[in-house]
Amino acid sequence: MNTKISQVIKELFGHDTEVKLTRPDPQFGDYATNVAMQLAKPVGKNPREIAEAIADKLRESGDFTEVTIAGPGFINLRVAAKGIATSLNNDWSDSYGGNNDGADKTVIVEYPSPNMAKPYSIGHLRPGNQGWAVKRLMEVTGWSVVTDNHLGDYGAPFGVWVVGFLEYSSVQQLEKDGVYELGRVYIETKKALKDEQAAGESILSSQVQEWLLRLENGDPEAMDYSRRFNAISLEHIHSVMSRLGISTDHELGEAFFAPKGKLAVQKLLHEGVAVQNLDGSIIVPLDDFGFDVPLLVQKSNGAALYATTDLATILYREETWRPDRVVYAAGSEQQFYFSQLFAMAKKLGINTELVHLWFGMIDQTNEDGTREKMSSRKGVVLMEELLDMAEQKARAIVDGRDISEEDIKKIAVGAIKFSDFAADRRTNILFDWDSIFALTGFSGPYIQYAAVRVNKILRDVGSVESADDSYDYEAEKAVLLKVLEYPDVVRLAARDLEPHKIATYLYELAREMNRYYEVTRVMDASDSERAARIAVLQKVSHVFTHGLSILGIEIPSQM
Ligand code: ARG
Repeated sequence: MNTKISQVIKELFGHDTEVKLTRPDPQFGDYATNVAMQLAKPVGKNPREIAEAIADKLRESGDFTEVTIAGPGFINLRVAAKGIATSLNNDWSDSYGGNNDGADKTVIVEYPSPNMAKPYSIGHLRPGNQGWAVKRLMEVTGWSVVTDNHLGDYGAPFGVWVVGFLEYSSVQQLEKDGVYELGRVYIETKKALKDEQAAGESILSSQVQEWLLRLENGDPEAMDYSRRFNAISLEHIHSVMSRLGISTDHELGEAFFAPKGKLAVQKLLHEGVAVQNLDGSIIVPLDDFGFDVPLLVQKSNGAALYATTDLATILYREETWRPDRVVYAAGSEQQFYFSQLFAMAKKLGINTELVHLWFGMIDQTNEDGTREKMSSRKGVVLMEELLDMAEQKARAIVDGRDISEEDIKKIAVGAIKFSDFAADRRTNILFDWDSIFALTGFSGPYIQYAAVRVNKILRDVGSVESADDSYDYEAEKAVLLKVLEYPDVVRLAARDLEPHKIATYLYELAREMNRYYEVTRVMDASDSERAARIAVLQKVSHVFTHGLSILGIEIPSQM
């Protein structure tokens, strides 16, 4: 449709223009464009005049049932449903919705990057969901994608665990409760450290330092503890990730980069990018990048920091993958840190586009109606408990019908994930079980149900003969217009790294489908009508599958 208008503009005025079509209120038309206003300056005529000329040509073309001009030069267009069906057929392919915008480009997407030796909590739900969706967006738009789980498996907590394990736990206890025992020990030890500090003592804290040093020096006992805790944690992390349906190609954590960090810091010193303070600590001044706070890359005692491992990570990735872009899915509280880190990379002459994919908090409503960061009685909300609860809710909405366990799990995970895309990722989201599982409204189950329904019709109808040429597609017009929008939605979502745009679109498509079923029969239509309608439903089914797969949501076989 827009290429047709571009052609007309070229003929009339000799200009190459990309025509943007919007969807006005249906009473004005199916599409609208303000291109005449944009052309006023370059063409040197008033917009109304330009719009008239374009409108005349468009009317002559016979592709539009109505062309009107509104206001200072908006062109409103109405199209014959059949024309839309033809357009869609022309654009159609097995990968409809995707594109090749990212051809020859490589992106590294990093998620969910949880921290070891703690149970996986709701704190790493959004990094996983959003990171996965961005990975998928990059894939369907032609990028080469490398994914990495940047595990938090290094640094101070390790010392806390060993000390805590020796003080408050046992091999049997650890074997029995695994990562939950590690989590318990961690909290208890942290509390003891705090009490100790308040009392002006430092017995435990110096033990913590000692274990850390031993680990850094490769002491066998320390290494053994680290291996043991890591194995327990990793198994747990993988099991949660697998329930969430996410995975990564690589799993290079902080511990992998820590030894490389030391060398990198030396290199920075050598090149004069970093400077050493009198106390021995090493910093990278960033005042030339507008930060009054420098980035600390090595402590006075020589220990590596978060920034040290991230510095080594950046260098390693540059060398290994030569990415055009790196996306870090991590919480909003790290915004300042990442802006410093990225400034340092610039200072090192690295021009790769580094993106901090951040998101708002997950809130809950308290009994008194106030809103606060989601937590549970025991503290953080644990992912395994949340997923168990979600499965219970999913079981409740299918209400005793014979639905497979596999489908229940798809509904449970779909509901939780979809709620993550309820709004722009930067806004805080409200975790509310009732709306997450609402069968009417903006929810995963609502979209899944719409997809299941289409798929069921397609299954039940069996094979059909090809559609009759005389069919007018009037009943399908709104659905067709919606399907035709999809590739642009994907393009925008990928451009802005905003997967929620896919979710919003899918919701609109689901609503459009529900309106359609209210007035149109598919199964008991005449043969030729049915064939045409089924061909449309096949496209709708493709779009649901494609869009939901970007969000990492599977479609149940039954609901
Ligand atoms: N493990 C960190 C956390 O849970 C997130 C890691 C983000 N990625 C990075 N390269 N620093 O807060």
